[in-house]
Amino acid sequence: MVARPSPSVPATRLAGGEIYVRPTAPPRARVDADARPAVERLTDPPAFHRRLPGYRATPLRRAVAAERRLGVGRLWVKDESQRLGLPAFKMLGVSWALYRTLSERLGQEPEGWRDLDDLARAFALLRPLSLVCATDGNHGRAVARMARLLGLEARVFVPENTVATRVDAIAAEGATVTVVAGTYDEAVSRAAEESDRPGALLASDTSWPGYEEFPRRVIEGYATIFAEIEDEMAADGARAPDVVAVQIGVGALATAVVDWYGARPGGAAGIIGVEPTRAACVLESLRAGEIVHLEGGQDSIMAGLNCGTPSLLAWPVLAGGLAACVAIDDDRARAAVRLLAADGVESGESGAAGLGGLLEIVEGPLEQRTGLGLEPGASVLVISTEGPTDPAAWEAIVGRRPACA
Ligand SMILES: Cc1ncc(COP(=O)(O)O)c(C=O)c1O
Repeated sequence: MVARPSPSVPATRLAGGEIYVRPTAPPRARVDADARPAVERLTDPPAFHRRLPGYRATPLRRAVAAERRLGVGRLWVKDESQRLGLPAFKMLGVSWALYRTLSERLGQEPEGWRDLDDLARAFALLRPLSLVCATDGNHGRAVARMARLLGLEARVFVPENTVATRVDAIAAEGATVTVVAGTYDEAVSRAAEESDRPGALLASDTSWPGYEEFPRRVIEGYATIFAEIEDEMAADGARAPDVVAVQIGVGALATAVVDWYGARPGGAAGIIGVEPTRAACVLESLRAGEIVHLEGGQDSIMAGLNCGTPSLLAWPVLAGGLAACVAIDDDRARAAVRLLAADGVESGESGAAGLGGLLEIVEGPLEQRTGLGLEPGASVLVISTEGPTDPAAWEAIVGRRPACA
């Protein structure tokens, strides 16, 4: 069962945009010494991912229209619209977490494997095994895909407002999809209950007291994104980012960002978290100084970010490492989708939210640009974490069909 942290606050407290700057934040955030990094620095995930069939580094693009609009020197977009065969970054976390977890259950890492069929054969000893998770789309699709590739079953729980395209995409992987009457957080609870059954493995990207191992590995897996960025920037002689804006659902990706950039010698970036206004659970937790759980209302078009409770592992890292947290409404997310499209990047509503947060900072009613490092010479990084995973919505926002549709 999912132990819910307290206190709870109504999700309706925030409207429009909102910016929370950590009062004690240094100009460039670093992980506080007493904030336990959620993951050790590992080189293993990039090495593991490079061995997967179909692996290639995703593009790091320069977005000049967005640079002009933000008034910064460089705006880099890591484009995760095609990652290991799926239109979002999530395969990185799921594949690594599963590999580590199943190897541990087996008692050893499979030796000399060359492709996923080899891994499926090695892990066949663990069958029957059913992967169970909750999702608002992308994580569950990655779990379902990995289950299919490894010859396992998958049971995926989605909140009731999940659009049919996303449900269908998960089901098309062969997973059993259950629509839960409630929010993402309620889907998490259902998945946790379901995983009490024999032969089930809970494959969650969020964590709570007593359930941390798999989600910790999901965070580790995201390191591949930043290793690739670092390699590409080094090859181009580009300067490491001064500012990174990262969208937050439960905070696993943002934890990987803080863990990577917050600890880089001489390269610590100002890290800005971005959430939908009615799912700003990290922003509200920062205000409260402890994890809070938002009650209901997580219904933004940024489906992947509609989470009411930060991951337990993420919380201390984000509390220590975020310079600011920005809440944006759906219109700001749409503006970011259009701006990325103008720069040739097809990004879904959750994917574009990091840029949406930067737009909120420079165009919203509160002038915060300088304090957060968004200066004319600044090098800024955003991660477009998904392609148009709801192509009809993308078409309505941008006015043309996405190339992937
Ligand atoms: C496209 C996209 N971006 C960002 C996120 C946020 O990641 P996290 O939940 O680790 O904060 C998600 C989560 O589902 C997502 O689907």
